[in-house]
This record gives sequence, C-alpha cells and structure tokens, in this order.
Amino acid sequence: MRLSAIFQTLILAALVVCCALWANGEDESKYFTWEITYGTISPLGKPQQGILINGQFPGPPMELITNDNVIVNVINKLDEPFLITWNGIQQRKNSWQDGVLGTNCPIPPGTNWTYKWQAKDQIGTYFYFPTIAMQRAAGGFGALNVAQRSVIPVPYPTPYGEFTFIVGDWYNTNHKDLRQRLDAGEVLPLPDGLLINGHPSGLTFKGETGKQYMFRVTNVGISTSINFRIQGHTMLLVEVEGSHNLQVEYESLDIHVGQSVAVLVTLNANPKDYYIVASSRFTEHTILNTTAILQYDKSNTPASLPWPSGPTYQIHWSMKQARTILLNLTANAARPNPQGSYHYKTINITTTIELSNTETTINGTLRYAVNGISYSDPGTPLKLADYFKIPGVFTLNSIGYSPPPAGTPAKLGVPVIGRNLHDFVEIVFQNEDKKKVQSWHLDGYSFYVVAYGHGTWSPADREKYNMNDAIYRHTVQVYPAGWSAILVSMDNKGMWNLRSGIWDREYLGQQLYVRVWDSQESLFLEYDIPQNALLCGKAKRR
Ligand SMILES: *[C@@H]1O[C@H](CO)[C@@H](O)[C@H](O)[C@H]1NC(C)=O
Ligand SMILES: *[C@@H]1O[C@H](CO)[C@@H](O)[C@H](O)[C@H]1NC(C)=O
Ligand SMILES: *[C@@H]1O[C@H](CO)[C@@H](O)[C@H](O)[C@H]1NC(C)=O
Ligand SMILES: *[C@@H]1O[C@H](CO)[C@@H](O)[C@H](O)[C@H]1NC(C)=O
Ligand SMILES: *[C@@H]1O[C@H](CO)[C@@H](O)[C@H](O)[C@H]1NC(C)=O
Repeated sequence: MRLSAIFQTLILAALVVCCALWANGEDESKYFTWEITYGTISPLGKPQQGILINGQFPGPPMELITNDNVIVNVINKLDEPFLITWNGIQQRKNSWQDGVLGTNCPIPPGTNWTYKWQAKDQIGTYFYFPTIAMQRAAGGFGALNVAQRSVIPVPYPTPYGEFTFIVGDWYNTNHKDLRQRLDAGEVLPLPDGLLINGHPSGLTFKGETGKQYMFRVTNVGISTSINFRIQGHTMLLVEVEGSHNLQVEYESLDIHVGQSVAVLVTLNANPKDYYIVASSRFTEHTILNTTAILQYDKSNTPASLPWPSGPTYQIHWSMKQARTILLNLTANAARPNPQGSYHYKTINITTTIELSNTETTINGTLRYAVNGISYSDPGTPLKLADYFKIPGVFTLNSIGYSPPPAGTPAKLGVPVIGRNLHDFVEIVFQNEDKKKVQSWHLDGYSFYVVAYGHGTWSPADREKYNMNDAIYRHTVQVYPAGWSAILVSMDNKGMWNLRSGIWDREYLGQQLYVRVWDSQESLFLEYDIPQNALLCGKAKRR
C-alpha cells in the first residue's frame, strides 16, 4: 500500500469511529459492577456489621449525565436477599427496574442481577439505597448525581467544584437486630448519632479562596429530619430533587428524610476553616449533631467554636421555609423546553386521594397503616402479578378511607390505587401523628407540592394552594398533626411505590402502590418485561 492509501484508510477508520461515537454521543452507556458484602465499620467508634459496595461505606457515588444508559451488575454476597432502588430516577415506562419488592423479585444471596435503566431527561441530585427490610440502616446507600448535557443550559454559573454530602442518622445496632426489634413490636429509640459521608466529624472539604462550589446534600437517614448549615457562609439553593427552583440564599436549610438539594457556596470569607453542621430537627430532648470542615486553601486557622446555630424544634419555622422553595418557571428542565410550559393550574383534577397515616397494633404488635391498612408484602411482585395476570396477589382500589372510621381495627393488606394514564391526581397526606414529621415519596414521578397546612385538611384549603410556581419534587414532608397536598400528572405507566421515607414505618406497613394503567399494550407507553427478569412467588413457574 502506498503511503497516501494508508493515510486514506486511517482517515476513513477515524471517521467511522468518530461518527459511530457521535451517533450514540447523546445516550452513552455506563457500566458498573457492584459487589455487595458485609464488612466491619465503626462510624460512631463502635465496630459493627455494615453493608459495603465494592468495599466502600457509603457506596461509591454514581456520576451520570442526562440520558445515560446505566447498566449495573449487582452481585449479592450477603446472606439475605437484596435490592437497590434509585431514589428520584423516574424509570420512565420502566417500573421493571425500580428495585422495590412490589416491582422486582429480590436478588437471592450468592447470585447477581443486572439493572438496566436510563437517566432520561433528568438533571439533579439523587441517591440510591437498599430497600429490603432494614438493610438501609447498615449502608449500601450512596450519591447519584446527574449532570446536564452540554446543550442544556442550567440557570446558575458552572461551579468551580462539587462536594457531595450524604447525611443521615445512624444506629450502633445491626440491621437484623433493628428488624427483630420492630418485628417484636418495639418503637425504635432515638438514633445514636448523625453522619456525613459515614463520619460523625472531622471530614475536610478543601476549596480555593474566592471560588464557588456546589454542595449536593441528601438526607439518607432512617427517621430524622436535619438542618444543614455552614459557618460564616450562606447557601444559594439552586436545585431540589431535579427541579430548578427560584434561587434564594439561606443561612440554614431543613432537609427531611429522603430529600436532596444542591446549593452554591462562594468561598469569600476570611481564608480559614469553617464548621459545616447538620443537626437533628424535631427530636425533643436530645439534639444530634454531625460536623465536617470547610477548609480554604489559604487557611492556617482551625475552625472556631461555637458552631453556627440552627432551628431545633420550631415546626412553624420549617413550614415557613418550605413555602419559600418555589419553581423557577423560566428555567430549563432537562428536556430542552421550558419547565414553565407545563401550566398545571389549567389542568382539571381527575381524582382526589386522601391518605392518613396511623400508628396501630395488629395481632399484638406495632404496625403503621395508611387509611387503616398496613401493607404486607405478598411475596410476589405486584408488577409480575399484573403482567402474568396472576389473581389473588393484590386488589385494585382497596385502599380504605381517610381517616379510617373510628373503632374499625386496622388490618394487613396489599393496597393498590388504580389510575388511568394521564389522570391528574390530587393527593392529600394527612399526618395523624402529633409528634412526628412524615416523609412521603412516590417512585416514577415528581409532583407539585401545592400546600402545607396545620390541622385537618378540608376542600376549602384548596383556595390556599399555590397554583403557579409550586416546587416539583419526589419527596414531601408532612408536619405533625398537619397535612401536605400534591398534584401529580400520572404520565408514567407502571406499578409505583408510594411510601414513607421514614424506614421503620415503611417496613411496618406505611406504604402502598399506584398502578398507572392504559389498556393499550404498546412499547411507546411501557417497556416489555426485561429478558433477565427474576421470577419468584406465584410468578416463579411462568
Ligand atoms: C452475572 O454476572 C455475569 C458476569 O459477572 C454476567 O455475565 C451475567 O449476565 C450476570 N447475570 C445477571 C442475571 O445479571
Ligand atoms: C448538639 O449541639 C447542640 C447545640 O450546639 C447542643 O445543645 C447539643 O447538646 C448537641 N448534642 C449532642 C448530642 O452533643
Ligand atoms: C430563573 O431562571 C432564569 C433562566 O435560566 C434565570 O436567568 C434566573 O436567574 C432564574 N431566577 C431565579 C430567581 O432563580
Ligand atoms: C375542566 O372542567 C371544566 C368544568 O367541568 C370544563 O369546562 C373545562 O373544559 C375543563 N378543562 C379542561 C382543560 O379539560
Ligand atoms: C394474626 O396472626 C395469625 C397467626 O400468625 C394469622 O393467622 C392472622 O391472619 C393474623 N391476623 C391478622 C389480623 O393479621
């Protein structure tokens, strides 16, 4: 071959490679192999059994770009079944990959299973965690950050760097012991502490003087709301669970269980060290704290006491702050069309669903119920029962009344709300507990949080709804003896878990499912069952 021919061949080859990459450039695939093992960890100084991912606690951060295809091979080396959910990832048309017991058979010990999903049209701060029993109390959780594609502008300057804060309460108790205690009817005590990225204190985040950083903060805990703050600095809130909010500066922020935010912090104070503090909210007698250090590159001075102070029990403070978190109607969402094009106030509500949580006793042990029914896992994923048309696993629209009629004992069940695709639904969460904040999460969706209120909700409260720029998120807090109202467009076909983010309550029955249905069987509306789907329970021999 002459030299020019070789060159021509090389150029051709380069073009083929370049253009093949270009064709897939927008929707890349990212592969992960995650080995789930037990390992000894001592986050609060006392050695205990933790759940590790590739040897790490917390698990490795998953860094994605919008529309990435994600392939995660999860190798379960625990002695019990395992599943992970991708909290806030909407799994569009794809509840098959949601990783909860109502959609997936658990991955048996000693085996592996591969999740395949896409971070479709999402930008933001999310996290993942194990969903079975109380495993989440032992680890297996981590950050899941989705950055924008270069073609999509975000309404804030590109930060110089990013820090991730996985904050949560922690028990010095093995997850199996916690489960046993719950099974025996005990209410869990106050957690033993709070952690940031697995540490109660001492972690150092180093930044350059004068630069702006993004702090991504998630409350990954079991039960405790937190207040997050940074000594000597304000935080500009720019993103809430995948939505761009109207940017406001805060001195401290309440983050409830299962919620995530991103804030921008400019290192424009005296170059020294500063305390980053997260403290517990609404824990009456003991305030739990965790700290980390923000260190300027030019710092020679350690952080000075006292810690910056924050609210501890004030519920009204929290509700007032929540009402300042609003959607930026002119900012782009991950889809290259304005977020504000979705005018939810013009859409008629198809149905109102009222849900009341109660603490109750069934068969002599503690349970949590919704409208008088405490969810009990039927052993066959509801999604598989639906797909294979297996009767007797769940009953549609068996969710009971809110509040449950006085004197009717709560019972176990498998409540499922049935809705048609594209219904526009109002859900009112009524918190019957006078002391505890609730945290409600819906898989597969984000929703507009149109109001928080005290007392019992009534239809007249609709006049107070924010029908213009309510924040669009996936997890909402409900204050003690109060209510929260959300509006949700049921545009994602599938079987979706609506659950308490407070995990002892979820485990003891404060959850249900929403089946979003359309009789048309089309791959445009919902993906087919994955080829590798695990089968179990009554679906085992299908
Ligand atoms: C289990 O892992 C192997 C490779 O380690 C892979 O080839 C196989 O597809 C995985 N099985 C499942 C069900 O994901
Ligand atoms: C947490 O910090 C607050 C305020 O600094 C303090 O009152 C409280 O005692 C601390 N809690 C613990 C458990 O040390
Ligand atoms: C809202 O988004 C627009 C468009 O990106 C941006 O210019 C503006 O600063 C944002 N406003 C607030 C208050 O966040
Ligand atoms: C909403 O309902 C009202 C009254 O029932 C009706 O007049 C209107 O056309 C409906 N709007 C839409 C967008 O369907
Ligand atoms: C109580 O427990 C018994 C024995 O385990 C069981 O058969 C029964 O269904 C339970 N009752 C309720 C209301 O769950």
